Amino acid sequence: MPIITFANTKGGAGKTTMALVTAGELSKRGYRVAMLDADPQQWVSRWMVKAAKLPKFSIIPNIGAENIDETIAELKKKADYILIDLPGGLTPLLAKAIGFSSHVFVPVQGCALDAAGGAQVLEIMKQLESECGIHIPHSVALTRVSSIITTRALQAVKIFLAAKNIPVLNTPLIERAAYRDMFDAGTIVNALDPEMVSNLDKAQENARVLVDEIIALVPAKAPRAKAAAPRKTASVAKKAA
Ligand SMILES: Nc1ncnc2c1ncn2[C@@H]1O[C@H](COP(=O)(O)OP(=O)(O)OP(=O)(O)O)[C@@H](O)[C@H]1O
Ligand SMILES: [Mg+2]
Repeated sequence: MPIITFANTKGGAGKTTMALVTAGELSKRGYRVAMLDADPQQWVSRWMVKAAKLPKFSIIPNIGAENIDETIAELKKKADYILIDLPGGLTPLLAKAIGFSSHVFVPVQGCALDAAGGAQVLEIMKQLESECGIHIPHSVALTRVSSIITTRALQAVKIFLAAKNIPVLNTPLIERAAYRDMFDAGTIVNALDPEMVSNLDKAQENARVLVDEIIALVPAKAPRAKAAAPRKTASVAKKAA
């Protein structure tokens, strides 16, 4: 069962949003997703009240360095994917979560401060590799990208990162109202009302393509098919006839 962490030491980089978009799309596809809320503000646990009631989606609150090990051990058999939503800051929990991760995604917006927060996370992974021989797969994930940015400009950013040997996801998360509105509605993007949210179809399509790429990088066992509906007994079937 893969463990995916979203990390950037800078606050507001887009970690929680990307984690929720990913969690929502994975659960929609039938994967059992457990989202560990490690942010002391507990935004996800407090606001995602409707999402928490979805059949494949669970939110585990109050995760810290002291209980992350046991929580992951308990969830191993119950979840197909574990997603860790970290707070900003350089903390012992960050190092621990990275250590557990099958893949670390580093959401980065265009701004330099954000990239610096991302660079701190990338530096930890570099040190783990050079000093301990531990390789944690990771990728930068561009986020809050303007919908009017040209493919060429986006390509230039990707080439810049590639030149520094930093893997980057092909699909950015675009700046969309739907990704803000899901917080107000307390649920995932796919459960929003298309009448109320502009460009919801585009936001859903973006989530779909992003998660295709994430699943290809971090595959899990295929989700279990839904249990077959119980067959009618002979007498019930007769009555119904
Ligand atoms: N793709 C997006 N489209 C629209 N708004 C976004 C997008 N990504 C993030 N935001 C908005 O940017 C703000 C910060 O995002 P978010 O809370 O995900 O960051 P964070 O890294 O989790 O922050 P923190 O470090 O405080 O936990 C929020 O108001 C969120 O709604
Ligand atoms: Mg957050």
